[in-house]
Amino acid sequence: MPEESQPFFHVLHFEQLDSTNAWLRKMAAGGVPEGTVIWADRQTAGRGRHGRAWYSTGNWGLWFSMVLRPTFPSQNAGWLSIAAGVGVASSLHRLSGLGPESAVRPELKWPNDVLLGGRKVCGILCETSISGSALDWAVVGIGLNRLVPPEGFPEDIRLTAAALEEFVPESDMPSAQELVSSILAGVYGAYRRLSDGGADALRLQAEALMGSMLGKEVSCATPAGTLSGIAMGLDSHGALVLRDARGVEFSVNAGDVSLGTGRFIQEEL
Ligand code: BTN
Repeated sequence: MPEESQPFFHVLHFEQLDSTNAWLRKMAAGGVPEGTVIWADRQTAGRGRHGRAWYSTGNWGLWFSMVLRPTFPSQNAGWLSIAAGVGVASSLHRLSGLGPESAVRPELKWPNDVLLGGRKVCGILCETSISGSALDWAVVGIGLNRLVPPEGFPEDIRLTAAALEEFVPESDMPSAQELVSSILAGVYGAYRRLSDGGADALRLQAEALMGSMLGKEVSCATPAGTLSGIAMGLDSHGALVLRDARGVEFSVNAGDVSLGTGRFIQEEL
């Protein structure tokens, strides 16, 4: 399939669901095709990574999930969530106020959070079903803060969350529908690059979006303890490569990453 081609996205739009990921996981297991999308105006039990709750109380944000059916081996599954982050960042990049000439540009916080001005505007929850070396399906859930919630962001994320409307001039703000379409196309394009060209096709693009992390000292709290080093880039599995004080390089797959004084929350696929 050529890079620019897209599947027929079949979008099911609901006023309210518990979690679009939870619904689509069941549907993916039941066999719905690639390109099936569930979008909810609000979620009553939105899910973040590591079992955290995701604040999604109204249609001030975009809460949607899509099914992918990758044909590449499961060892490349780590790249899927990076591809989703690259896809979101590249679609935001096209917006007025966030383009190449703008002071603020979308950044990727490895593996897949999208930041504006150092704050998180989009979170991605990528869930997969794996049989041996094959990926049966992946559900890519995207939560994007389009507007600031009328009640404001909750206290615990008030300093770290961002909304698109803070950066894009009101007159240029895309509709929710336009944004969902553009993000679906961006994510699908990055996924096709990964599928057709392998990890190398995506690595440079992902690393280019990680400017605020690479070359800096980071700490990563993992189940094995806190690991620190200079962030060097991504390895062949999409893990973050750190270089320790002795110059030894090692890869980190998951954990809570801190950079400088700001906290970077990084979790597994
Ligand atoms: C994170 O950063 O922790 C990931 C957040 C992912 C949130 C989205 S909102 C749409 C989809 N449905 C969910 O329950 N979660 C994802």
